[in-house]
Amino acid sequence: MTRQRSVLELDDIQGTILRSRPLPYFGAYLLLRIDDPAHGRLQLRRLTPRVASGVNWHHHTDTAWFNVAFTFEGLKALGVPEASLASFAPEFQQGMAARAQTIGDVGESAPSHWEKPLGRPDVHVALMLFSGDRAALQPLLELAHGTQDDLAGVSIIYRVDIEMLPTTRTHFGYKDGIGIPLIEGSEAVGYPGQGPEIKAGEFILGYPDETGNLPAMPQPEVLGRNGTYVGFRKLYSRVAEFRRYLRANAESPEDEELLKAKIVGRWPSGAPIVLSPDRDDPALGADAHRNNDFLYYDDDTKSLKCPLGSHIRRSNPRDSLKDQAVAVNFHRILRRGTTYGPMLPEGVMDDDGVDRGSIFIFLGSNLSRQFEFVKSQWHNDSDFIVLDDERDVISGANDGSGTFTIPQRPIRRRLHNLPRFVITRGGEYCFMPSIRGLHWLANLAT
Ligand code: HEM
Repeated sequence: MTRQRSVLELDDIQGTILRSRPLPYFGAYLLLRIDDPAHGRLQLRRLTPRVASGVNWHHHTDTAWFNVAFTFEGLKALGVPEASLASFAPEFQQGMAARAQTIGDVGESAPSHWEKPLGRPDVHVALMLFSGDRAALQPLLELAHGTQDDLAGVSIIYRVDIEMLPTTRTHFGYKDGIGIPLIEGSEAVGYPGQGPEIKAGEFILGYPDETGNLPAMPQPEVLGRNGTYVGFRKLYSRVAEFRRYLRANAESPEDEELLKAKIVGRWPSGAPIVLSPDRDDPALGADAHRNNDFLYYDDDTKSLKCPLGSHIRRSNPRDSLKDQAVAVNFHRILRRGTTYGPMLPEGVMDDDGVDRGSIFIFLGSNLSRQFEFVKSQWHNDSDFIVLDDERDVISGANDGSGTFTIPQRPIRRRLHNLPRFVITRGGEYCFMPSIRGLHWLANLAT
């Protein structure tokens, strides 16, 4: 059966959905509260003409751009009618804090410990600002402030700045942003190993998804079509603790690097451990034509190279689950990860008390089948890989009691007493409407 290809309405889709972060990147996330719907809509009328679309998304000429998304409470605060509100996905209506048990935000990561105002009903609008250079970001920040300065009914209540680290890697030391799905109709040329094109409806509403159907879409159509759901998470990284854990469990400096690679499934350079099982290969890590070109089932059936419990194998098992009835492409994740906070200098093993980590952004048309499924079934549960009491070392809900199994011969190796290296400091589910949807919201007559 031939699958019909979707043609995307790029001029109506907000740019962030298709554009990767720039390199280097600078940016900020601003959260706004709306106390007066008329003021909220007026600000939106001022902002909407400047919102970046998906046109020329891979040859865009702007060095800085921004996009806008709303929480469920935010849509209410703007005056969206009841019938429309009721048409949004139930998880979105509940909000991320209410989904804490499902996604493993428990213990130290529980919403009761979140940074204010994250997870509270007064977070209404998220502005996402990205730039390839620091200076170009300033006018966007001024725009965001300038459009609400004279509006008593709109306030900026939170800001977090993001910036690429000097190492170009995450705080834990790994290269990030490699495994990204290829979206049908996005005009992107895929890299080897990126996998088959994923139906556009998995990431953008209004197009068929991997089930062959149109995903449930918020109403009216002008609001839902070409929009998507967004998960925003502030994830604090315990870098010193991660370094100490590796040191304490390694037999040598080389073994420390190997453990680090086994935990993620990639060496710090990004080189996949399936293709380079014994040592890092920076040339491979840097080569986009080779660094994602691997599968698991035939190349690493017994997971002697890349553990079943490694972060990338859990997050996207590729063909590992061939003999199980799991449609991996129903659970692909479109990520826009960035770092916040300064680096803990190389070699420092003690925590300096500074806030640092990742702002994790997930974009997709089905919060429960994508983000929540990956968190609950693949990161925090091990039934699918038959590993008792194991959670993802990087992003799982570990509590100091868990293990991580590294298959090897003659006897498998096990790390024990895994603490939680990543703490959720807060998060929000948002809806990012189309550009037409933004106009509709900005001109609501209620
Ligand atoms: C602070 C938290 C996290 C860190 C430091 C982190 C780090 C990484 C790194 C280093 C990679 C390998 C490079 C790459 O493919 O881009 C990766 C891949 C990936 N991560 Fe995470 N991650 C985090 C949280 C998450 C979460 C919460 C999810 C999903 C719910 C996720 C989903 C993925 C996916 C889907 C891949 C690509 C796998 C592939 O296609 O092979 N990550 N992550």
